Amino acid sequence: MRREGAARARGLRTDYCGELGPEDVGRTVSVCGWVSRRREHGEHLAFVDLRDHTGIIQCVVDGGHDIRAEHVIKVTGELRLRPEGTVNEAIPTGEVEVGASEVEILSVAEPPPFSVDGRIAAEEQVRLRYRYVDLRRERMQANLRLRAQVNAAIRRSMERQGFVEIETPLLWTPTPEGAREFAIPSRLQPGSFYVLPQSPQIAKQLLMLSGFDRYYQIARCMRDEDLRADRQFEFTQLDLEASFVRQEDLWEVVSDSVLEVARSVTGKEPPPVETMTWSEALERFGTDKPDLRFKMELVRLEEAVAGTGFKAFQAEAVRALCLKGGAELGRGRLDALTDRAKKLGAAGLVWLRVLRQSDGLALESPVAKFLSDKEKAAVVAATGAEEGDLLLVVAGERARSCRVLGQLRLDLAQPAVSEPPYRFCWITEFPLFEGLDDDGNPVAAHHPFTMPHPDDLDRLESDPLSVRSQSYDLVLNGWELGSGSIRIHRADIQRRIFSVLGISEQEAESRFGFLLGAFRYGAPPHGGFAYGIDRLAALMAGEESIREVIAFPKTQSGADLMAESPRALPERQLEELGLRLLPRPEAKSPG
Ligand code: AMO
Repeated sequence: MRREGAARARGLRTDYCGELGPEDVGRTVSVCGWVSRRREHGEHLAFVDLRDHTGIIQCVVDGGHDIRAEHVIKVTGELRLRPEGTVNEAIPTGEVEVGASEVEILSVAEPPPFSVDGRIAAEEQVRLRYRYVDLRRERMQANLRLRAQVNAAIRRSMERQGFVEIETPLLWTPTPEGAREFAIPSRLQPGSFYVLPQSPQIAKQLLMLSGFDRYYQIARCMRDEDLRADRQFEFTQLDLEASFVRQEDLWEVVSDSVLEVARSVTGKEPPPVETMTWSEALERFGTDKPDLRFKMELVRLEEAVAGTGFKAFQAEAVRALCLKGGAELGRGRLDALTDRAKKLGAAGLVWLRVLRQSDGLALESPVAKFLSDKEKAAVVAATGAEEGDLLLVVAGERARSCRVLGQLRLDLAQPAVSEPPYRFCWITEFPLFEGLDDDGNPVAAHHPFTMPHPDDLDRLESDPLSVRSQSYDLVLNGWELGSGSIRIHRADIQRRIFSVLGISEQEAESRFGFLLGAFRYGAPPHGGFAYGIDRLAALMAGEESIREVIAFPKTQSGADLMAESPRALPERQLEELGLRLLPRPEAKSPG
C-alpha cells in the first residue's frame, strides 16, 4: 500500500506524509503540506508536524525558519528512525521522522480561526464561514472521502447491473412532486422562468419511453423546503428507473447498490435488506421508518383486555411497549413519559411495573385495581414481561396509538452496540393516498404517477383511502433513505387517478401535458427509485447531520456563510433579467 502511495505521489514531493514508515528509513524524501504544530528543540532546531490528507509526519528543521501553524511548506531530508524513547504510538508514522531537513515555504498563513487538529470543537457558524479550513480537519477529510467511496460503490453496482448514466437538465420546469421549487428568471425570455428540478422524476420516465431500459444518475435535486439535520435545499440522489420490471426487481437492484456501499465502507458483509409492509411496520414499530437495530416491538393487547371493565382500555386499539428493567423508573420519569405521550397525541399513558410477589408476577400501577387478575395475567403473557420490566400502554385510535408508542420506543431504547450497525429495510404497500385535503380530495402519498396495487384498483373511486399503491421506501436505522414506485403507464388509469385527486383534464394538460403527450407514443411499463446520498453517507459516517458530509452546506436559514449567498444583485443585472424588486422590510443578514 505504502509503495503504491509513494509511486503515486508525483509533483513536488516523493511521498505523502502519513505513508512513511520504518521501511523508508535511509531514503531522501520530500513531503509537502500544512504545518500542524511546531515545537522548539534545543536552541537551533525545531520539530514540525507536517500534515497532508494522509496524516502527519514529524520533521526536524532548522529553528531559524519562521514556520507557523498552517503555513504550507515543503520539507526534504533523510528519513530516519526516531531516537529510542521518543516513538509516538498515537500516530501511524510515530516511529520515524524526516531529519536535518531543508525547508521551502510555499505560502504563509494567518493564524487560523480555529484549530485544525480537531481536538477543540469550533462553533458550526465559524466552521461554515471558514469551511476551507474546517475541511482540512481529519473528521471532514474522512467524511468527504467516505462519501466519494459511497458514490464509487454506487457506480460500480449500477454499471454491473447494466444501468446507463444519463444527465438531465437543471434548468427545468414545474412538476407535481409536492415540494416548493426554486425559480430562475430567463434573460432571453423576460418574464419567464425555469424551475430547478425537485428530482429528475419526469425526465427519467421520459427516458424509459425513449427506450433506454435502465437509467441512473447521481443527481442533484433542489427543493425550497425548511432545512433540518437531514434536509438541505440542494441534495444528491441515486436516481434510477427501469422498464419492464416488477417492484421486486427494483428492490433487488437498489438493495445490491446499498449493500455494495455498506460492504465497501465497513469491509464486512452486511445483513440482507429486510422487507415489511407499511401496515406491518406501523403495527410492530409504530412508524414507517423502523429502526431495526433494537427490538422492543409494540404488542397488541386487544385480546388480553377484551371485554374489560376499564373504560380507558375500551378502545379500537390497546397497544403496549415493554421496557426491560424499566420498573425502576421513578414517578418523575413516569410523569414525564405521560406528558410526552400526551404531547404526541395520546389521550393518556398507562404504566405498569412488573414486580414479583410470592404467588407470581404482579402489576403495580395506579390503574391496576381496574384490571381483573385474568386480564393482568393475559397482559403479562402477551408482552412477555418479566420481573423488573415496565409496561407502557396507549389505548385509542389504532394509527395514533401505534405512532405514539413508536416514538416512545425511540425515546427510550438505544441500539445495542453488538447489533449489525446497518439495518436496511424495505417498506412496501404504502397507501396510495395519505388523507384528504381541505376540499375533501385525497392527497397522493407519493406522486400522482404511482401505480395503484392491482388488487385494489376497483376501489379507486368507491374507497380511495383503502387503496394500496405499488410504492415502497427504503429505511436505514430509522431514517427514510429513499422512495420509489411502479409508475402508471396507461392513460386510462392515469385519468382515473387525476379525477380522484380532483385534477381536471385541462389542468393536467397544462401542468404536465408534455409527459401525458409522451405517453401517447408508446410507454413501457416502468418503475424506479431514488435514495438520498447525503443521508446514506451521513449514516455511514456516524454523523447526525447531513451537513457533515456536504462540502459547502447551507445553514438552517438557507445561507452559505462563506460565499455569502443568497445576496442582492446589482440593479443592472436585475434589469437584464426583466426583474424589479418589491419594497422589502429590512433585509435579513445571513446566519
Ligand atoms: P423522494 O422525494 O422521496 O422521492 O426523495 C428521495 C430521497 O431523497 C432524499 N431527500 C433529501 N435529502 C436531503 N435534503 C432534502 N431536502 C431531501 N429531500 C429528499 C431522501 C428521500 O428519501 N422522484 C422520487 C423518487 C422516485 O419515485 O423514483 C423522489 O424524489 O433520502
